[in-house]
Amino acid sequence: METGLSILSSDFGKMAAEIKKYGTALDFIHMDVMDGNFVPNLTFGPPVIDSLRKTTKLPFEAHLMVVNPGKQWKWYRKSCERIIFHIEVFHPPWRTLSAPMALLKEMKGVKKGIALNPPVPPEKIEKWLPHIETAFVMSVPPGFSGQKFDPKILKKIAKLRKTIDAKKLKCRICVDGGINLETAALCREAGADAVVASSYLSGGDIRKKLAGLKALR
Ligand code: DX5
Ligand code: ZN
Repeated sequence: METGLSILSSDFGKMAAEIKKYGTALDFIHMDVMDGNFVPNLTFGPPVIDSLRKTTKLPFEAHLMVVNPGKQWKWYRKSCERIIFHIEVFHPPWRTLSAPMALLKEMKGVKKGIALNPPVPPEKIEKWLPHIETAFVMSVPPGFSGQKFDPKILKKIAKLRKTIDAKKLKCRICVDGGINLETAALCREAGADAVVASSYLSGGDIRKKLAGLKALR
């Protein structure tokens, strides 16, 4: 299974070394961008990501947990080949943009993903599936690493898989939050193509853990 590393649970004073530690055993690096507003936590932004860009050849993706991705996505296109924004920003209390289409049209030259939080039903993004590369399913409330996987999202993955296959769309499904070998296997079974893990990959035998995740079929 395609596997990405979120550096959220790494030592932020040693981010470059942390990324290098994994070598090329990963498929991509997931950058958790938080604005202290959309989520109750604050991480890093373009200067840090641009600086880390030279540490690896692996693709970067930006997970924008920010209120206004319409304004900010451009800041990440230099270093991140995939940019993911949250569907919740189109609805109260945020409603910083009216509908995803204008933003999706504007986001040229990057792979596009739409994230949805655990309580949000798959129908909220179904309309946009033909226009995105990744349906990004959160299996924890966004903001922190080390939270517990919510099994209720498995049904959502299955529903998205069904829609994507029925319409013969190219969109992949990626799951983020509480991922370990066991929960990744459940996601795979439900129809996910990729996972992002942070705390699970931050200790122990990383190579073995990665090999386990990658071997899921
Ligand atoms: C949560 C982030 C996740 C997080 C995952 O807001 O979007 O990417 O880092 O951490 P784990 O794998 O520890 O749940
Ligand atoms: Zn994330």
